[in-house]
Amino acid sequence: MSKPFPDNPFLTENFAPVMAECDAPDLIVSEGELPSELGGTLYRNGPNPMFPPLGNKHHWFLGEGMIHAIHVEGGRASYRNRWVRTEQYEAQREAHERLVPTGFGEAPVAGAENVKRNVANTNVVWHAGKLLALDEGNSPVAMDGDTLTTDGSWTFEGKYEGPMTAHPKFDPRTGEMHFFGYMAAGPGTPDISYQVVDRNGKLTRTEMFKAPYASMVHDFIVTDEHVIFPIFPATIDVERIMKGGPTIAWDPDAGTHIGIMARDASVDTVRWFKGDPCYVYHPMNAWTSHEGGRTRVHADVMKYSRVPLFPDADGKKAPTDLADEQGMLVRWTFDLDGNSDTYTETQLTDLGGEFPRF
Ligand SMILES: [Fe+2]
Repeated sequence: MSKPFPDNPFLTENFAPVMAECDAPDLIVSEGELPSELGGTLYRNGPNPMFPPLGNKHHWFLGEGMIHAIHVEGGRASYRNRWVRTEQYEAQREAHERLVPTGFGEAPVAGAENVKRNVANTNVVWHAGKLLALDEGNSPVAMDGDTLTTDGSWTFEGKYEGPMTAHPKFDPRTGEMHFFGYMAAGPGTPDISYQVVDRNGKLTRTEMFKAPYASMVHDFIVTDEHVIFPIFPATIDVERIMKGGPTIAWDPDAGTHIGIMARDASVDTVRWFKGDPCYVYHPMNAWTSHEGGRTRVHADVMKYSRVPLFPDADGKKAPTDLADEQGMLVRWTFDLDGNSDTYTETQLTDLGGEFPRF
């Protein structure tokens, strides 16, 4: 028997976990008609903890992923939802209780130390005939796009077994998927991997380089000519963790470092630009321009003055205190023909927001 969930803003109201898996084959169309030519599936992923937290440090990002799918075809719509059957899910389902904590730095239940921590809860993407559930700490988990059954971890025919960002980028011209992984040489390492997968799902490139420090690297940007790796001071400091400090923390002294390289060049050519401490979960767009004999990279990103949802390095500030954390859309411009290691910033609007899209 499962216990009730505690009163936590990330476990109640709109954030409350859905405890049922179901198939609704004929959804009610309450107004108008679905065009018969419209066909496709809208997939959604999100943290949906299957059991209440172990301790009092529950974090939104650590609940088990559940995929929701609304399928439209022939003037009808259906709905289906399934948890992603990760190793963590299967072990806990068998135990009928939570084994793996949902708080950073919390210990698992005794005996569950070796259960692989994999939540596959952050995004779901479709590429080369595969539906991939993603978190940023593990390999993607492949699922059947129709039944939502889990096929298991996908390692690109064994060519890349490291972590994969939940925000890969898709090149509409080439059909390629580009992605990176952070802590790619193991927990606490500053190593970043960079991969390209062709339109047929074959991994054609994998390389590693070192960021200035280990941190939570949530997203990156690809233009038709350049790749941009933004490193923000949400640091992962093994020494701090060993002393009982927070796993991921706002550490502004580390500064912001933005790495840029040409897509057709090696990671050895990544050029680092430095900026004021800030955090960006999600960019909106980026492009490369050539004007007046200068090559520039422009990036529009949703910028915070500090990392939301994580404490300061000294452990102060609750991760649920979002009052002074508001994303603002800014445009960064990098002059690749200049000698400066800085970049310019223009605020594009005073409207706060997140998940920017065209
Ligand atoms: Fe994200």
